[in-house]
Formats: sequence, structure tokens, C-alpha cells
Amino acid sequence: MSESLFSLKDKVIVITGAAGLLGRHHSEVVARAGGVPVLLDLYAGPVEELAKDLERRYGVAASGFAVDITREAEIEANCTAVLARYGHIDGLVNNAANNPKVEGDGSKNFSRLENFPLQVWDADVAVGLTGAFLCAKHYGAVIARQGGSIVNISSDLGLIAPDQRLYRKSGLPEDQQPVKPVTYSVVKSGLIGLTRYLATYWADRGVRCNALCPGGVENNQDPAFLKEVSSRIPMGRMAQPDEYQGSVLFLLSSASSYVNGAVLAADGGRTTW
Ligand SMILES: NC(=O)c1ccc[n+]([C@@H]2O[C@H](COP(=O)([O-])OP(=O)(O)OC[C@H]3O[C@@H](n4cnc5c(N)ncnc54)[C@H](O)[C@@H]3O)[C@@H](O)[C@H]2O)c1
Repeated sequence: MSESLFSLKDKVIVITGAAGLLGRHHSEVVARAGGVPVLLDLYAGPVEELAKDLERRYGVAASGFAVDITREAEIEANCTAVLARYGHIDGLVNNAANNPKVEGDGSKNFSRLENFPLQVWDADVAVGLTGAFLCAKHYGAVIARQGGSIVNISSDLGLIAPDQRLYRKSGLPEDQQPVKPVTYSVVKSGLIGLTRYLATYWADRGVRCNALCPGGVENNQDPAFLKEVSSRIPMGRMAQPDEYQGSVLFLLSSASSYVNGAVLAADGGRTTW
């Protein structure tokens, strides 16, 4: 198989939430494949540092910008800046999301549907869904000038309901038990709808759009939780943070040139059970 099938040489790829746990790995694989990662996150420091690091290690002209993807004016201004620097945009990875909180304040557990604050709903939807829409609207329209690839990072929980038994804490009454918040399911399912919409919207302009549904990543969770989650995954373990690089590269590169509107589960088989 030819190396060039997976090459992103000189392709400018915008990645949101690039300073996060997985965003860093998505950014790295773009650089490794010869692409030019444009790293967006809430604060400039971490993405500027990451851009320098990628530039040093892979010799690509990466850049990092502070862009709050819930603010359309910031996206528009950034789109103009990216175009001024590179002249084109070839890909977008809608990766940013709020990390769902499952904690309470001792008297009330705010993750539970009965207590879930409207402000948190609004904030989670604003980043995960509205942000992805706004990025598609602006960066996507630029990608449509010559074609390219949009990848929406959904989740295994965009395909199945969270198993709330996983989040139980012993000794708490039923109405205090933490759960995976409703917004996670809604945002991740919504991204699959956005994927199908975008896959058809600019198909005649050579823009493909696919969703990647990663399973949970091992990240210092307590051993009892790890054991419980792993028992629900045919491969018997959570993912390592670099294990989505192959799927992201596949969906961004011409290796997936006829893949459009697909929902790719990379979850160790969790949604197969
Ligand atoms: N980590 C997992 O186990 C897992 C599993 C399945 C899916 N996912 C999905 O993968 C993606 C990345 O997850 P992660 O674990 O790296 O999360 P993370 O919390 O480490 O990273 C998310 C990043 O998004 C940024 N962000 C938040 N709001 C923003 C805004 N308004 N504008 C710009 N950036 C903003 C944050 O600053 C952060 O750097 C998310 O969409 C997540 O839902 C993660």
C-alpha cells in the first residue's frame, strides 16, 4: 500500500480543542503525515507551544490560535487569519467538547437529569454542537472552494446510551448517584446528524464528512471503574490516547476518498455487544 494514500502533504487542517487529551494526538498525526495543523483552543499558550513542538519535530508550518468556538466573530476572524497565512484550508476536525461533570456539591448531584442546570445544558451544547456547526459554516465553506475532509468527533455514546451503572458510587442514596450527563448523549448524537447533513451538502464540491466514534480512553481512572468498563468491551480494555490517530488520518486523507457520511466506531467493539 502506498504511503501517499495516507499523506496529508501541505494540507491545512483545522483542529478544535487541540490542546486537550485527544486533540494533541490528532494534531500530531496530521503533522506526521506532512499536513499543516492549525490548532485551536480556548487559550493561546498551550496551542502555540504545541505548534512549535510539531514544527520542530516534523518540519511543518503549524500554528496555534486562541479561538472560542462558541463565538462566531472569533471563528470568522481566525478563518481570515488562517487564509492570509496559508491561502487554503483542506480539513477540519471538530473535536472540542466540554468535559462532562458527574459531580455534585454534597447536597445535590448536578449530573442527574432532575437537577441538571439549564446553564450547563446550554454551555455543553454551545461548544459541542453549536461550535461544530459554526466551524463547519466558516472553515467548511473555505474547504468547499477546492474540496477536503471534515471529521466530527462523536463518541461510542453517540451510538449507545451510557450505562449509568458504571458511574455509581457506593454509599450514596439513589437520588445522589452520579450519572453521565444528558448533554453528552445529545451532543454526540447530534454530531452524527451534522455529519450526515454535511456529507451531502458539499458532496458536489468534493467535501467529505464523516464521524468518528471513539470509545473511552484510559486516563488514570480508578481500578474498579476500569475493570467494570473493560468488562463491557470485547477487547477487554479502554483505548490508549494515541489509538485514534490511525482513524483520524484515514478519514482526513485520500485513503478514505470514497468514504462519506460514515460513522466509524473505534471502540474496541463496545457498541457491537
Ligand atoms: N477522552 C475520551 O475518553 C473520549 C471518548 C470518546 C469521545 N471523546 C471526545 O473526543 C473529544 C476530545 O476529548 P478529550 O478527552 O481530548 O477532551 P479534553 O477535555 O481533554 O479536550 C477538549 C478540549 O476542547 C477545548 N475547548 C472547550 N471549549 C472550547 C471552546 N469553546 N472553544 C475552543 N476549544 C474549547 C478544551 O479547552 C480542551 O482543550 C471530545 O469531543 C470528546 O467528547 C473523548
